[in-house]
Amino acid sequence: MVTQAQLGLELDHKTNGVFSNVRTLQCPPLILPSALPLNQRIKMDGLELLGMLDDNSVPAAFFDPQFRGVYDKMKYGNEDTSRNHVRVKLPQMSEEQIAKFTSEIGRVLIPSGHLFLWMDKFHLCTDFRNWIKGTNLSVVDMVTWDKGRMGLGYRTRHQTEFCVIIQKEPRRAKGVWTIRNIPDVWREKIKKTHPHNKPVRLQGELIAATTSPGDLVIDPAAGSFSVMHACREQGRNFLGCDVEAHDGATE
Ligand SMILES: C[S@@+](CC[C@H](N)C(=O)[O-])C[C@H]1O[C@@H](n2cnc3c(N)ncnc32)[C@H](O)[C@@H]1O
Repeated sequence: MVTQAQLGLELDHKTNGVFSNVRTLQCPPLILPSALPLNQRIKMDGLELLGMLDDNSVPAAFFDPQFRGVYDKMKYGNEDTSRNHVRVKLPQMSEEQIAKFTSEIGRVLIPSGHLFLWMDKFHLCTDFRNWIKGTNLSVVDMVTWDKGRMGLGYRTRHQTEFCVIIQKEPRRAKGVWTIRNIPDVWREKIKKTHPHNKPVRLQGELIAATTSPGDLVIDPAAGSFSVMHACREQGRNFLGCDVEAHDGATE
């Protein structure tokens, strides 16, 4: 059993602020099964990978679920375009499957660890809270990613995606989150190698803010492995997989 003291969770009663740029949260030693190599593209079901990780062992996780909700529910009429066929061919996750992923991430995160949960405006405005219902996770912040160009067609005028920042209990910033100047609207243009690439620089900043050098960051549905790339740039260890081996991996 890892104690709060070992995890560096004792509250600092000498100072009153809720924020400091010194990270005191420690991670337990990294011990992984040999079937899970670090810093590589693993082809595996994400729930299987999560099932192999210990409780309270990971400081930060990214999760970018593959959903069709916006197409199925909004019925814009552009579902049959060739561009959308590529997206639709990706293995889709049901709402129940997404909730299983978040619940497993809640289990493996260390206390006060972070989940960066990507979603579009449809899920942000409707029912994404069901994905974390009944877990030990709660929303603490959000960054809007401005891609700098419009996608998904004129009907949605889709130029942004949202990274909802979620924390495992106990919620706290001091000693955990170390970078104060990440704006909550982030403009980053990216080269598209996968239908859903996410911005490497933003993810790198979030990793730097919530982990220490050498710490483990996971992504159980990694797509182009943009999070692996961000970890490499920040000197963190990456563990992640995708159920498909995508050609268009971020390099
Ligand atoms: C939205 S994309 C992730 C994109 C990624 N964030 C990036 O920056 O490239 C979701 C990915 O989940 C994968 N996927 C779907 N079901 C999965 C499962 N059960 N386990 C692991 N990956 C899965 C899909 O193949 C797809 O590549």
